[in-house]
Amino acid sequence: MQRENWTSKLGFILAASGSAIGLGNIWRFPFVAGTNGGAIFLLIYLAAIILIGYPVLISEMTIGRKTERNPVGAFKKLAPNTPWWLVGALGVLAGFVILSYYSVVAGWGLFYMLESVTGLAPGTDFAGLFVGHISSTYSPLFWHFIFMLLTVSVIGAGVVNGIQRVVKVLMPILFVLLIVLIFRSLTLEGAGAGLEFYLSPDFSAISLQTFNDAISQAFFTLSLGMGAMITYGSYLSQDESITDSAGYVLGFDTGIAILSGFAIFPAVFAFGLDPAAGPGLTFITLPAVFSQMPLGGLFGFLFFALLSIAALTSAISLLEVVVAYLVDEFEYPRKKTSYIIGFIIFLVGVPPLLGYSALSDFSFLGMDILDTYDWIANVLLLPTGGMLTAIFIGHYWGTDNAVEEANRNSMKVKVGNVYSLMIKYVVPIVIFVIMALGVFQTITG
Ligand code: PHE
Repeated sequence: MQRENWTSKLGFILAASGSAIGLGNIWRFPFVAGTNGGAIFLLIYLAAIILIGYPVLISEMTIGRKTERNPVGAFKKLAPNTPWWLVGALGVLAGFVILSYYSVVAGWGLFYMLESVTGLAPGTDFAGLFVGHISSTYSPLFWHFIFMLLTVSVIGAGVVNGIQRVVKVLMPILFVLLIVLIFRSLTLEGAGAGLEFYLSPDFSAISLQTFNDAISQAFFTLSLGMGAMITYGSYLSQDESITDSAGYVLGFDTGIAILSGFAIFPAVFAFGLDPAAGPGLTFITLPAVFSQMPLGGLFGFLFFALLSIAALTSAISLLEVVVAYLVDEFEYPRKKTSYIIGFIIFLVGVPPLLGYSALSDFSFLGMDILDTYDWIANVLLLPTGGMLTAIFIGHYWGTDNAVEEANRNSMKVKVGNVYSLMIKYVVPIVIFVIMALGVFQTITG
């Protein structure tokens, strides 16, 4: 069967941006920045995106387009009869783990979308509301299921009829919603303090943890290290340029992360709340913000719609990695495979979901189950996948081959020696050092 291709360069850019822009930008980025001193984190994060994220993004898209295969098949094709395919297999595994808890968090977003319409009365105990919801079993289970169902229905419909069609509608909506929310936030009285926090660097907030968080965030937000960009690149027509497209994806993803900070911090400061609230920033602090503003129910609804849309266009890329693997390698039918795998991933997501209720006694290195999944994925699997991909290109397949494929048909951007140097030495060494230190720190507490 002829492999499906995105029908245009725009289709590819929107799909890849949709994968990149997700909970990582709207939920994770603001709270990680908020707990790491705001502006200073932004600077280190930008360095990580450009020096490490960009070369790895190009590398993954290149491997995909060159081979026109899923991650496992791609490594098998470029390195037959070697164990390199295991790097792809690691990606498929990461897809399972990440999507399972990602869908749980996205489900909280869906719950809050409805909750905003009906009940964000000022004076509500929002911490209580959030804890009450996540520890209540059936409601989060229901929304987790609904979110997986949405994800599965898109992937079951195919690359062009499913993924591309959905991102072409949702990505523009996402952008408009974000602009509306930023406008609302910046025009609140007292917004200036939030801008100041967000834009003036506090150098005393830098620690090893800051670099660690910046690198994990760079991988997570660009969907790197698990083959999502290999898979999406594999559907890119041979006539399109990788380097040009990758630039847009990087620009959109970074832009949306920065912009969501502009939607969130001015509002948080305007109501005298804490920007360093951590993971609860989105689900506890923001509902409190919305409850106090005029038309807050509407803005709350819009914000959580934005969050849910962003999550959906990322979740489909996670599922696509697994489905593409099974469809390519075993010739399973796409639709059936999507539903079966989607259901299995739903089940894998049940333990992290119950980690706030029935399984709340579980703790691994001080983390609950959802944080444990997140840690396994973001601290172990993604950086390892990215590092091995760089080593593969730098020292096995060859940067010359990669550069040639990446630059083909480029009109604007071309990569060369700097890219090669990054991929051969800088990316693997930096990831190894930061990852080793991060794991060491977590284990020794
Ligand atoms: N990039 C997505 C986000 O920022 C998460 C993701 C990671 C998606 C890995 C696909 C692969 O939310």
